[in-house]
Amino acid sequence: MSSHDQRFFDVFILVIGSLAGIGVVLIMLARSVGAATQARWVHEYPVYGEQVTERLKPAGTVGLPGGPEVGQAAPAGAAAVAAAPVAAPLSGPQVFNQACNACHGAGIGGAPKNGDKAAWAARIAQGNAVLYRHALEGYQGATGVMPAKGGWANLSDAEITAAVDYMVSESH
Ligand code: HEC
Repeated sequence: MSSHDQRFFDVFILVIGSLAGIGVVLIMLARSVGAATQARWVHEYPVYGEQVTERLKPAGTVGLPGGPEVGQAAPAGAAAVAAAPVAAPLSGPQVFNQACNACHGAGIGGAPKNGDKAAWAARIAQGNAVLYRHALEGYQGATGVMPAKGGWANLSDAEITAAVDYMVSESH
């Protein structure tokens, strides 16, 4: 290689090297400018904000007695409602309508119908203690399956026995 070629080669490498260096500096500069401007604009863009809010929305809501209806979106201030102690215990008829009527209203699945004296006579004869236990713990009888608390585990024992008293008073 002649010394002329050697010089050309050295200068060529020097120029390519500095161009690559300038390229890297430009890329870093563009990234830092972008982070301070474009990335902020993206976050401030209203549609983007709505999409994030939509993605962060809770998948569902939990209904408590005295709270908003199950499955409904919680209204504003729902946290205060949910945090408040559960409202006064439900009365016998209220519990019946909410939890027992599905089966005992029309006598579904072998359930003794509310108000049907013939269907209740032998049951009432067992005494309240047995009726309470069967309603609270559930049992399998001759005509069907009575689920524990009618499937409403969130109801208190007192609410369930109040509903039993109500059905007994309607059916003797
Ligand atoms: C999914 C249906 C269903 C629901 C809901 C239900 N019951 Fe029953 N219940 C039955 C059936 C079926 C029987 C009869 C079982 C048998 O004797 O074979 C029964 C029987 C009873 C008896 C009679 C027990 C006995 O010893 O004869 C009582 C008391 C009773 N239920 C109370 C309740 C109360 C209180 C609720 C509401 C909190 C309720 N049930 C909700 C199906 C249901």
